[in-house]
Amino acid sequence: MTDAQAFITLTDHEKNQQYKLPRIKGSVGPDVVDIRKFYADTGMFTFDPGFTSTGSCESKITFIDGDQGVLMHRGYAIEDLAEKSDFLETAYLLIYGELPSAKAKQDWVKHITYHTMVHEQLIKFFTGFRRDAHPMAVMCGVVGALSAFYHDSTDLHDPHQREVACHRLIAKMPTIAAMAYKYSVGQPFVYPQNSLSYAENFLYMTFSVPAEPYKINPILARAMDRIFLLHADHEQNASTSTVRLASSSQANPFACIAAGIASLWGPAHGGANQAVLEMLMEIGRKENVGEAVKKAKDKSSGFRLMGFGHRVYKNYDPRAKIMKKTCDEVLNELGMRHDPLLEIAIELERIALQDDYFIEKKLYPNVDFYSGIILRAMGFPINTFTTLFALARTAGWVAHWMEQSSEPQMKIGRPRQLYTGPAKRDFVPVEKRG
Ligand code: SDX
Repeated sequence: MTDAQAFITLTDHEKNQQYKLPRIKGSVGPDVVDIRKFYADTGMFTFDPGFTSTGSCESKITFIDGDQGVLMHRGYAIEDLAEKSDFLETAYLLIYGELPSAKAKQDWVKHITYHTMVHEQLIKFFTGFRRDAHPMAVMCGVVGALSAFYHDSTDLHDPHQREVACHRLIAKMPTIAAMAYKYSVGQPFVYPQNSLSYAENFLYMTFSVPAEPYKINPILARAMDRIFLLHADHEQNASTSTVRLASSSQANPFACIAAGIASLWGPAHGGANQAVLEMLMEIGRKENVGEAVKKAKDKSSGFRLMGFGHRVYKNYDPRAKIMKKTCDEVLNELGMRHDPLLEIAIELERIALQDDYFIEKKLYPNVDFYSGIILRAMGFPINTFTTLFALARTAGWVAHWMEQSSEPQMKIGRPRQLYTGPAKRDFVPVEKRG
């Protein structure tokens, strides 16, 4: 962090007191006002539920400009990475800060490939779930349980153990996600194949059956890899902040990632990709889109256009643009160009983007708006969509966990509050209560 070269002055008119607060510049984007001494100096807390104006940490990993619709990972634009890189290379970039040399990439891919199998005992965890358990519930449980298997990579103070935990988490998430799907459909688990790429392996473990050979479709594998890449990281979103907060208590990495999975599950966050498909299916026909937009503008309806809006993007989510292009490629490849749900989505976007309500509130399609249409066309059941988001976001969660865990002065996250409950009062014995 650069030292404060400037200050802002705050005046407390009630106490007729002025406070000088350091103003710190980042490399790109808004400055921050350093309030670390604010309570000690003023006896007051700042107040920002939902953290709409709060920088929770310093990070070098991802930068978002919500007004311009810019997303960069370690300075590389998402558009360049989506076109020219791949998921594992981007994961390396997020974690180590630079694009790998050819040798470093080869070693990295080998490390990940050779950690894709899970401990055989882990299979017993699946059998405890009902077959119709939500795959995210399974993933929360199984990933948290990894702490019980890999004691040799739970010490976040040991750089080697951090590295091994990072490899294990990125490598095993596709295996666990595929197992959750196989368990839900009553098919046997499929072991990873080291000869396949990361995305190919995931498709193979998910859709192949022992009864016949499985042919990888290279266009679908490329689309899968790009979908993972687009979901890899996104600054201090709710689930990443959850991972950081969990890690600040020095909890082990598997428990921290399980916490991130739980946070991502919500329909306001990663669960939106499933909610978008359910919304499109509920709308049912293009002709009903106008009614849906009208309902979304009526606060009392409680209905929102899922896949629309974003805390940071007040412009088109750059990932949604790339996702839409990928959607066209996949539907073309599968001969589903006229997918009725896609037609509803396109009509919904067209109407919403012309509507004053959405324009004024700067509500645009986000990363979740088109992803579900692709995944459904590829054969994934709707309730598995968020497990794919969690699989991909593990790269970002691990990168932020590594960044924070390697800070020498990592402090436990412990926010305060504005208390508006009862002031001190005496206890009343039950026989004297009304
Ligand atoms: C992800 O943070 C990240 O980076 C997340 C993510 C990532 O990669 O990690 O990008 C992934 O989570 C994308 C978002 C997926 N969620 C959805 O698509 C669910 C639908 N969208 C929302 O519920 C909402 O837009 C949020 C949760 C995404 C953002 O909420 P904010 O920033 O807290 O905004 P808000 O709820 O205060 O809404 C602002 C206004 C409100 O109206 P007013 O009270 O100002 O009158 O816009 C309205 C809202 O009612 N609004 C919507 C709307 N989203 C916001 N109205 C209709 N439909 C919507 N989708």
